[in-house]
Formats: sequence, structure tokens, C-alpha cells
Amino acid sequence: MKFFIDTADLDEIKEANDLGILDGVTTNPSLCAKIGVADFEGHIAKICDLVDGDVSAEVVSTEYDEIVSEARHLADIADNVVVKVPLIKDGIKAIKTLSNEGIRTNCTLCFSATQALLAAKAGATYISPFIGRLDDISDDGMQLIEDIVTIYDNYGFETEVLAASIRHPMHVLESARLGADVATIPLKVIDQLLHHPKTDSGLERFLDDWNKLQKELDNK
Ligand code: E4P
Repeated sequence: MKFFIDTADLDEIKEANDLGILDGVTTNPSLCAKIGVADFEGHIAKICDLVDGDVSAEVVSTEYDEIVSEARHLADIADNVVVKVPLIKDGIKAIKTLSNEGIRTNCTLCFSATQALLAAKAGATYISPFIGRLDDISDDGMQLIEDIVTIYDNYGFETEVLAASIRHPMHVLESARLGADVATIPLKVIDQLLHHPKTDSGLERFLDDWNKLQKELDNK
């Protein structure tokens, strides 16, 4: 399973990258707005320099011609750019064109398995089902991941399932159980994956016992 970090913040990206477990980055217009990105293309170029893996950069156009032209521009920034395209009619059409040109895409804002089927047929590199936003409205985000994984397996689609809108460690665990190819995770949740109170108390006890032994040996 690949781990992407879901942020546009360079410090957060560096921190996750330093752990050695980072396979890529996803950004979106809201994440860029959150940190006040002024030079979008320059910022994506910096992220692409920092990280070896795929970096998703999202178009803000909503009409076919503009989406394709914006996507070509973004794809020129670096080899590891993946262009994020919204799951709308013009987006699906654009993904088909971009896929034929060899430009890799991440089809975003997916909320149903039939949408995911269309994205795969258009040749999207990644599909991003938003599991947290479904859970937010009392729907079942994990069921969507399961349905998409099953459908893609049934027909051998190469589109990778990228679990997005992750809110907590159980989303990561369930996505892994269901065979999602990628999880894009906020830094706070990456930290939560790591910590366990029994690890902390166990380590504290090991070190206390070791230090006691050293004192006893010193006093002999
Ligand atoms: C990433 O690709 C998505 O844009 C992101 O995970 C959405 O997350 P949110 O629902 O927390 O905004």
C-alpha cells in the first residue's frame, strides 16, 4: 500500500518524507488556500523536488478545453506531476484525452462506484473516493472503497484506488484490509498511526529497568 500525504504544506511534507515512508503527495485548491499559496506552479515544482513519488496538482477549470489545456500545463512542471481532474462530464472526457496523450490523472471528488467505473474506463491513473466526506453525511465511505476494489478487480482495470478524505486511523486500516492501492493521509493521522500508549509505557519500563540495573552494577 502506498502512503501519500494530503497537504500542500512544505514543512509537513518534509516531516513525513523524513520518516522514509512517503510515496507521494496530494494537494487540492482548499489545501493550497489554507496555507496561502500565491505561486501555484512554483509551489507544485517545490513539492515535486522534495518527493520522489507522484504529486497530485488539481485543475480549477470545469470545461473540457480548459481542463485539457490546464492539465497539459501542470504536467509540464515535473515528471512526477499527476493532474487531478474533477469527476464531472467534461472531466471524464478530459481524462480520456489526457490518458491518450500519456498524461497521468487523479480523478477526484468520487462519491459513487458508478462514477469510479467511468473514471477507470476513461483511463484515469488514480480514482479518489472521498470516504470521510461520505461518513460525514451518514453514508458508508468504506463500502465505497470495497465496491470500487471489487469492480476494478472484476475487470482488471489498472486505475489505482486512492482512499481520500481520510479522517482517522481506522480509515487507513480498513482501506488496507480492503486492498486500496493508496491512502492519502493528513500528517496528524500519520502520527496517530504510529503511536500506541502500550509502546510508550513499555519503552519507559524497559529503560527504567535498564537504568536500575546499571546503578546496581555501579554500586557493586
Ligand atoms: C485528496 O486528494 C482530497 O482532496 C482530500 O483527501 C479531501 O479531504 P477532505 O475531505 O478532508 O477535505
